[in-house]
Amino acid sequence: MSNRRSFINKLGVLSAAAITSNIFQPAWSADILRALDKADGKIAFELAGDEAFWQTVQQAYNTPSSFINFNNGGVSPAPRTVAEAMKLNYDQSNQAPSYFMWRILDAGREPLRRRLAGLAGCDREELALQRNASEALETVIFGLDLKAGDEVVLCKKDYPHMMNSWKQREKREGIKLVWVDIAFPVEDEAAIVKKYTDAFTARTKVVHITHLINWIGQKMPVRKIADEAKKRHLEVIVDGAHSFAHFDFKIADLNCDYFGTSLHKWLGAPIGTGFLYVKKEKIQKLWPLFGSPDTQENDIRKFENLGTRPFYIEQAIDDAIDFHEMIGISRKEERLLYLKNYWMEKVKDIPKVKLHTSFKKEFGGAIGLVSVEGKKPGELESYLIQNYRIHCVSVVYEDISGVRITPNVYISLPQLDMLVEGITSFASK
Ligand SMILES: Cc1ncc(COP(=O)(O)O)c(C=O)c1O
Repeated sequence: MSNRRSFINKLGVLSAAAITSNIFQPAWSADILRALDKADGKIAFELAGDEAFWQTVQQAYNTPSSFINFNNGGVSPAPRTVAEAMKLNYDQSNQAPSYFMWRILDAGREPLRRRLAGLAGCDREELALQRNASEALETVIFGLDLKAGDEVVLCKKDYPHMMNSWKQREKREGIKLVWVDIAFPVEDEAAIVKKYTDAFTARTKVVHITHLINWIGQKMPVRKIADEAKKRHLEVIVDGAHSFAHFDFKIADLNCDYFGTSLHKWLGAPIGTGFLYVKKEKIQKLWPLFGSPDTQENDIRKFENLGTRPFYIEQAIDDAIDFHEMIGISRKEERLLYLKNYWMEKVKDIPKVKLHTSFKKEFGGAIGLVSVEGKKPGELESYLIQNYRIHCVSVVYEDISGVRITPNVYISLPQLDMLVEGITSFASK
């Protein structure tokens, strides 16, 4: 209830500016209030298929009806309220940049840190604001003291920026990378954990785990791998680019030392936002990417010495949290899974169509990968954009080959039906 009130109150402030630019429709705020009232008491799983409720959520986005975006995994549009807050911040900053950036907007960083830490389930002194998951995780990858011969265990299906950063350390300093190889999808947590534990040796110092594998949407048993790693006193790094604000969990649940995420994917914050979590007792030993004063040795803020940057973007994270909390993470998680399973269920028996992602909640979320026998993923991607104005992304990497489909909460069932029609028509050719 209090999340709802805070969101609607802020809406009042925003809409005064937005109405004049005709971007925001105040009627929507009444609709969403009514929908939220009606949803009270309904369990998240039941609400996942309640189209009346989700239609009001869809109205919160300013997305074109003539074009369907199924690459929300890459980066997602922000709700209108978030975009509007960012523009308002920008206009103010542009009037007297040094005053508004460093006196007004920068002053918002500490309250934002506290709020984001609350959402993430960590102490505010453990959370640094960053521009994206790459920056957050590369801070850790390059900031850990390791020597030649030390081993790092990671997976061939981790994210390229991270794998490349580790490879750079391997070339430059002689650390050893030990690669776990898994043929996804896998519906057996113990088998995944075993792949990691088999790779651990007496020389292993670090394990790097991707929470949700971006290529095909596999959810990894992070906690179980981390527990095994901790028995061996390893540093545990979690790439949460796709899990934060997508799955209902807290960082404390993961038993990790470091966690990095972007906020422009699943939180719906403006593009160029993310955070880094560093466990309190690990802050001192982790080198920042950008030099920091000695006084910050033990301070999470030592990872924020980036110089002048767009504070108007950062401060709109607050509005994204408002929107996210208004829906509620468990409702969002259930809906995202519902949307993926809706289209996957409809194409699963079509001749020549192959799915590469689990339907089960323990093993995935909104991301799904599909392929058509005898065809290249790029052909399906082109067919969908040319014939249906559907944007998605083809993936050809290692043993993975398919088209990745990622809806977000603003995607409607008729849009998914259009996707199903497109895949059906392509597969019949
Ligand atoms: C698993 C994973 N990690 C990290 C990243 C990097 O995110 P960003 O480009 O926002 O830094 C991505 C981006 O898609 C990703 O999928």
